[in-house]
Amino acid sequence: MDGGTNSGEGGGGAARQEPGLRLFFALWPDSATSAALHARARALHLECGGRAMRRDTIHLTLAFLGDTPAREVERLQALAAQVEGESFALALDRVGSWKRNRVLWAGPSIVPPALAALAQDLEARLRAAGFALEERAFSPHVTLVRNARVAPAEAPLPPLRWRVASFVLVASERSAAGARYRVIGRWSLKQRG
Ligand code: 2AM
Repeated sequence: MDGGTNSGEGGGGAARQEPGLRLFFALWPDSATSAALHARARALHLECGGRAMRRDTIHLTLAFLGDTPAREVERLQALAAQVEGESFALALDRVGSWKRNRVLWAGPSIVPPALAALAQDLEARLRAAGFALEERAFSPHVTLVRNARVAPAEAPLPPLRWRVASFVLVASERSAAGARYRVIGRWSLKQRG
């Protein structure tokens, strides 16, 4: 990840002149989970400096599309409706850091098969539909702090259990106050059992 400086091309070779949206698919936490993640972000910020993510921006990216012509939104929504994923529990039990972009994140030490399958299915459908995605392995994480001064101390973390029952399509809008995320579609995952 590059901390948001990239505006990856998406949209299957569409004209560049058209108004674009910066889009990505994500898991969006329920309010208890986002409150807990935000508390963790603030604690990490106190320990390591940098900028804690605002509570309303906390998410886990499934697939990043980058700048995409607005007219592609309908096609993306239709594509997302075809995805057949199952709901799952996600235990966020790790805090990690990336030196290259000074991001601190929370993530699962075990990736639930249903999460891997969801990301894979979505990616395959996006590629088949001509959307250009980056060739990087899916690395599920929730960014909590950007521009951290130091890495956090290693410490066991009480796992935070997130019940994931849907995924979303999000438009990232830049404003003076930073990035604002607008959910422009939500699809339910099948209940297991
Ligand atoms: P990050 O949190 O690790 O920066 C919106 O920018 C979301 O898309 C973020 O969750 C971001 O991950 C993710 N993302 C994935 N690839 C990206 C890229 N090339 N540029 C910017 N954001 C990207």
